[in-house]
Amino acid sequence: MNGSGDWIPRHAEKALERLLPRVRTAMGPYGEKYERLWQGFERRLRLYWERLFRILVQLYGWQYDFFYHLEQILIMAARSWADRPEYLKDLDAHREADPQWFQSEEMVGGVLYVDLFSDNLAGLHDHIAYFKKLGLTYLHLMPMFAVPHGSSDGGYAVSDYRAINPDIGTMEELSALARILHEEGISLVLDFVLNHTSDDHIWARRAKSGDPDYREYYLMFDERTMPDQYQHHLRDIFPDVRRGCFTYNEETGKWVWTTFNSFQLDLNYANPAVFRAMAEEMLFLANQGVQVLRLDAVAFIWKRLGTSCENLPEAHMLVQAFNAVARIVAPGLLLKSEAIVHPDEVLRYISPEECQLSYNPLLMALLWEALATREVKLLNNAMWKRSRIHPECAWVNYLRCHDDIGWTFDDSDAREVGIDPHAHRQFLNRFYTGGFPGSFARGLPFQYNPDTGDMRISGTLASLAGLEYGLEREDPDLIEEAVGRINLLRSIMLSAGGIPLIYLGDEWGMLNDYTYLSDPAKASDSRWVHRARQRWEAGDGVADAEALQWRFFNELTGLIGLRKQLPALRNGNMEIIDTANPHVFGFIREHGGQKLLILNNFSEHPQEVAQQQLNAVTAATRFADRLTGGSIENGTVLELAPYQFAWLECRAD
Ligand code: GLC
Ligand code: GLC
Repeated sequence: MNGSGDWIPRHAEKALERLLPRVRTAMGPYGEKYERLWQGFERRLRLYWERLFRILVQLYGWQYDFFYHLEQILIMAARSWADRPEYLKDLDAHREADPQWFQSEEMVGGVLYVDLFSDNLAGLHDHIAYFKKLGLTYLHLMPMFAVPHGSSDGGYAVSDYRAINPDIGTMEELSALARILHEEGISLVLDFVLNHTSDDHIWARRAKSGDPDYREYYLMFDERTMPDQYQHHLRDIFPDVRRGCFTYNEETGKWVWTTFNSFQLDLNYANPAVFRAMAEEMLFLANQGVQVLRLDAVAFIWKRLGTSCENLPEAHMLVQAFNAVARIVAPGLLLKSEAIVHPDEVLRYISPEECQLSYNPLLMALLWEALATREVKLLNNAMWKRSRIHPECAWVNYLRCHDDIGWTFDDSDAREVGIDPHAHRQFLNRFYTGGFPGSFARGLPFQYNPDTGDMRISGTLASLAGLEYGLEREDPDLIEEAVGRINLLRSIMLSAGGIPLIYLGDEWGMLNDYTYLSDPAKASDSRWVHRARQRWEAGDGVADAEALQWRFFNELTGLIGLRKQLPALRNGNMEIIDTANPHVFGFIREHGGQKLLILNNFSEHPQEVAQQQLNAVTAATRFADRLTGGSIENGTVLELAPYQFAWLECRAD
């Protein structure tokens, strides 16, 4: 390590020379087939080795047994490569030839809980035609791994990453389904719950029974001293459940780090054996045919005393290391970040070497903010500053998911447009829990923290947008307004830069379901109000196209169909424009010689966009209205009806 300059390339090379023969031996005897296999592996390894080595040296190089772990990681990778089915290796080759496949305007995602949607995997199979009718090309099945009895945080307390909850099916069924979906043009997306395991995972059980190697898989403390020191800087994620991030474990007499529920034990990634073990689980899932892994609660995976233990540089390095392992063994796999944190931090997970995809929680939260205020200034300011990401990456745009809504906008973005961030969050919380006079929303508080006054919001798209309220009042005008709001948000989700993601049930305008209150395993977690069972019989019963449910369904599929015909909606670029109307959110999408002006009226009153404004943002002489088929001359004032949105193709002819 003498002299200056980067010593990594030379030492990476040297380490590889030392390790390769050992890894090869560990792989067992090689016939001709294996020789081919080996060569394939070695070729890929050489491409990405330096990247992986550099990160692992930084994370673990100081540990006395680093070289041993390096070898274990390589052996694991080689074995996973040998196990990777041929059809997936073909897929890898396709993806490598077209790495930007996910930027297509044809991409549309859906997410669901298998048990609530179709009882089990066998049942899901029967709905593939339905997914295709909706236009889905990406299907996220919420975690359905083996879980403990009783509470499992909606499947996010995983007891075994290689086993499916027996009520839902088997791993064999899942991998068969992945292949069928792939043949139907749908990529399977699953969760990679990497921050924690459940307390009955085999690793946790071994740790609790005193196995010192497995104790080091978790963060366990003999007394409160260290937890207290850490705790000082940590935030409570589930304050309703427990104050503080540590749980006393009777069996071991130790304090265990549990960021989320007490039965979800945080993994100790400072231990390279944990990285190796979890990389193995990641590749196992990739080898079942999973094409995108959602990195659950990724912000929390690295801890350092004196910090908030969120979004630490090492957390990014770890994800980059997982990414490099995937590039070597399963290059078709994409990683999606689930970091529901400050917008600056969200952006830091997004890059081709880290997560190619990311949820867009800022757009999601600010769409709801704009619906409440009928003003788009915060949405505009924030999106103008923060919607640009690396051109080889994509946002995943959503309106609702299985989780709560948190107001994660940046305080100075708010102040810049004259909004007091603290008071505004309180207003939004009151508005969405129905406590603000004139509110249309029927949301529920989630994780109210009396110390800080913080809370987040649960509720379905339709109930938060006013449909439940309108139906309660039996007021056709209120119902129409709610329909308008729902369609407006959907239009933005489908036209903004990135992959739209539909939370299934929302295509029918699913309302809040309060039955969770009578289930003791769910009653204390209000997110279950928007995790309802899919009521197929309801859809079948109303063939009447005028019925609300069918209106929602048909309007959504119509919009999806249109999206798929518009090359301008390819890729992520999105130029936010000033419409000079405080209620109208506008942006331009341009690609492949097509330019679209998208306008969205967030008010229940008609709004105008002035001619000068349109001239300033486009050079169009006329606009083809892609929703109505009509044509508008540039030069006329553009009027938008209440909650109207317009997809206008700019024409210079
Ligand atoms: C993720 C999930 C959420 C879960 C948490 C803990 O954020 O989306 O549902 O409670 O992680 O796993
Ligand atoms: C917090 C976490 C996020 C998790 C959510 C669950 O917002 O940052 O990862 O999904 O809590 O409610």
